[in-house]
Amino acid sequence: MVGFRKTSDQVRTSQVRESTSDKLLENLPRLSDLLKREPIQVEKLIAEAIRTKGIRNILSELDKVLRGLGDVALDLLSSLAIGRHVLIMGPVGVGKTTLAETIADILAISDPPYIEVACHSHMTATELTGDIDIAVALQAGLDHPLAFIPGPLVMAHGKILILDEINRLNPYSQAALLQALQEHYVFIRGFRIRSDFIVIATSNPAEYSGVYELSEALADRMKVIEINYPDRDVLRSILEWKSNSLLEHLGTKVPDFMVEIVTTYLMLLVQDANIEVGPSIRSAIYALANAMSRAWIEGREASIEHLKRSLIENMVSTVRGNFSSEQEKKDYLLKKFDEALLIAKKMFKK
Ligand SMILES: Nc1ncnc2c1ncn2[C@@H]1O[C@H](COP(=O)(O)OP(=O)(O)O)[C@@H](O)[C@H]1O
Ligand SMILES: [Mg+2]
Repeated sequence: MVGFRKTSDQVRTSQVRESTSDKLLENLPRLSDLLKREPIQVEKLIAEAIRTKGIRNILSELDKVLRGLGDVALDLLSSLAIGRHVLIMGPVGVGKTTLAETIADILAISDPPYIEVACHSHMTATELTGDIDIAVALQAGLDHPLAFIPGPLVMAHGKILILDEINRLNPYSQAALLQALQEHYVFIRGFRIRSDFIVIATSNPAEYSGVYELSEALADRMKVIEINYPDRDVLRSILEWKSNSLLEHLGTKVPDFMVEIVTTYLMLLVQDANIEVGPSIRSAIYALANAMSRAWIEGREASIEHLKRSLIENMVSTVRGNFSSEQEKKDYLLKKFDEALLIAKKMFKK
């Protein structure tokens, strides 16, 4: 019989669970509350956050995460402060998403500090707006907290809305977003819900395939800010800093010479007329750290051969250019690595 009786611990756990789920339900917005929403001037909240934190502090906080993007950040903040939505453009792995998230985190105008959507091509308009669950509404009434599941466009009221890789949104979802931006209302089955938010969107340039064009009307509502590839010195310091921080718990470090090789290699590729889409900084950071963790596991010195392999295996899929086949691209990338190695050796001897 004992087996059927709940222990006092089990009773307590289930009571806690019930009260937690009650609390969760209590915290979910009800349709009637959403319909009573007051407008919020998000740009005022942002301006106030900039004023109280001070731009110097904001930039030094950012510098703990991203290097060399101070000017871009000033551009971004000056737009947000007047309520202008921003579109951060740039190649893969230059820090677009990190910049959007870090700035929103630092400003912290709301709790949570931002709502983020990872945009994709199959995203429906109702995934952005939210929808009424007819079955729940019929049984428990329209105002039951589970009868209306709000989407990110509704949840972002009074917040920053990060739309990551916005260029992946299909035209239907773009239209839903445009309507919310234009009218400050989200329309759901005839209900009109106020929603004021400021968008920080990120996007890859048009030469990337598998993406939609951003509609002119939508693009027109955003200030475009470009992140370019960093210059040589900044790039070297990013590679050194970030790869070593991945290795900290292993108690190993990337030798300066390897950082020099990868920096030289990336700069060669970025300036190469045959290459349209350059290598990602992220993949270079991981390639450096990977070559070292491989050496650490095997208990030996780092090998340039491993570095080369780990760099190029990753880059073949992201770098785009004038090549007739993947093999041709790979051979080209290998050849360029050997060039970079020679240059780095010469520079290192100096
Ligand atoms: N300027 C930079 N300073 C420091 N780290 C950077 C910089 N640019 C890129 N990185 C590194 O590369 C990673 C990729 O950044 P991410 O924001 O995902 O790029 P994107 O969104 O442009 O593809 C970051 O987590 C960071 O470690
Ligand atoms: Mg990104």
